[in-house]
Amino acid sequence: MVLHGPNLNLLGKREPGIYGHDTLELVNERLQAWAEEQGCELRIVQSNHEGVLVDTIQQAPDWAQGIVINAGALTHYSYALRDALAGVALPTVEVHLSNIHAREAFRHESVIAPVCVGQICGLEWYGYILALQALQRQVNSGV
Ligand code: DQA
Repeated sequence: MVLHGPNLNLLGKREPGIYGHDTLELVNERLQAWAEEQGCELRIVQSNHEGVLVDTIQQAPDWAQGIVINAGALTHYSYALRDALAGVALPTVEVHLSNIHAREAFRHESVIAPVCVGQICGLEWYGYILALQALQRQVNSGV
């Protein structure tokens, strides 16, 4: 599963100097194309609401083998998302389009990072592909 958090629906229009010109629809199409090539089912959810993201994470073990999450600004302060990810114990990779460590100080901390297997940031939309590849490897090798 790929989860996009708040404001990622605005990709393409939102601060293009930081997040680029690609829309979320285009990014999702690329991810679905990759999944199809790999023969894996990919469900993608975007929500601006923390509770919807928590509900979606809680339901993920019913069908998903791993989670790729760009939690947007919630990354930096949402203990609810962190607890939801810890609670479902699915391998999770955190993704950010921008390099959060090269930006404002409040973006340097991720409260979800400790419950993720890794973090990929600064590689724009391709970070999601790398995250999916990492999860695929984990799932296939059973580690
Ligand atoms: C982001 C980085 C966050 O700090 C920000 O709040 C976002 C997007 C990224 O993809 O670079 O909404 O997660």
